[in-house]
Amino acid sequence: TNYIVSVDQFSNADVLHFIKLAQAFKHGLTVNLKRPAFAMNLFFENSTRTHTSFEMAERRLGMQVIPFDPKTSSVTKGESLLDTLRTIQAIGVDLAVVRHPQDAYYQPLLDADLPMSLINAGDGSGQHPSQSLLDMLTICEEFGHFDGLKVAIVGDLQHSRVARSNMVLLNQLGAKVYFSGPATWFNDDFGQYGEYLPIDDLVSQVDVMMLLRVQHERLTQTNNEAFDATTYHQRYGLTLARAAKLPAQAIIMHPAPVNRGVEIASDLVESPQSRIFQQMTNGMYMRMAMVSHILVQRGLLDAKTLE
Ligand code: CP
Repeated sequence: TNYIVSVDQFSNADVLHFIKLAQAFKHGLTVNLKRPAFAMNLFFENSTRTHTSFEMAERRLGMQVIPFDPKTSSVTKGESLLDTLRTIQAIGVDLAVVRHPQDAYYQPLLDADLPMSLINAGDGSGQHPSQSLLDMLTICEEFGHFDGLKVAIVGDLQHSRVARSNMVLLNQLGAKVYFSGPATWFNDDFGQYGEYLPIDDLVSQVDVMMLLRVQHERLTQTNNEAFDATTYHQRYGLTLARAAKLPAQAIIMHPAPVNRGVEIASDLVESPQSRIFQQMTNGMYMRMAMVSHILVQRGLLDAKTLE
């Protein structure tokens, strides 16, 4: 395919293919493009990890990265996202990586059948396929398999595109998913992917404790005013006391950015069981895998070089 927008596109074989490719890049695989290729990263929502690691991945694959700043672009004059992509396509951009606050913003772009390639770097509370693949890489590196692993996804489920992507892939790959956090943030649509339990019932039995950031930018003003970080941490967070009950082999994950002392005790971010910074490193290699896959699809890279 010419686009990667949702984990629904991936079979288990696809996920394992991306993991293998990311590991090859991690072990030093380099590639040569057949002609100059151009990427543009269009971030309509703030980002540190995803934006930086896509740009690093594109550069390491030999692509040239054309800057785009929404605030100084003609989007401010009312130009639509579709017309923006038509424009950069006409100018010669091969790959657009887009993050946007609107759920499924990418659908009209796919319907328009643009010849350029598209990777979704996060849509509202919809999907975050590159985060999900880097999380699968991190889990696979740790345990060597997914079958029967117990994974708790804990926190602001309602707003989390990471939860929505990971619950699908983890189920598909044979892991057992649990959810925790405020009950009002557990939507009915999560039920088919895992059981909802209090965090105290989960800490002593999980292989992966995956915390989610409380997304204050998506909460209403009333809910933000009513929010108390200390109360949240004690009721729903991974406190030091709860972390002490994790099995020895269990790992702590968080897509980050982290609200230290809210969903996770600050000291746990750098604890021996934390894989939070490894997730970020893996993110760059996984994005190299995703972008190189697209480059092969576009005939810009010989598939044999990825074997
Ligand atoms: N995990 C993640 O998507 O982080 P950024 O918002 O900083 O890209």
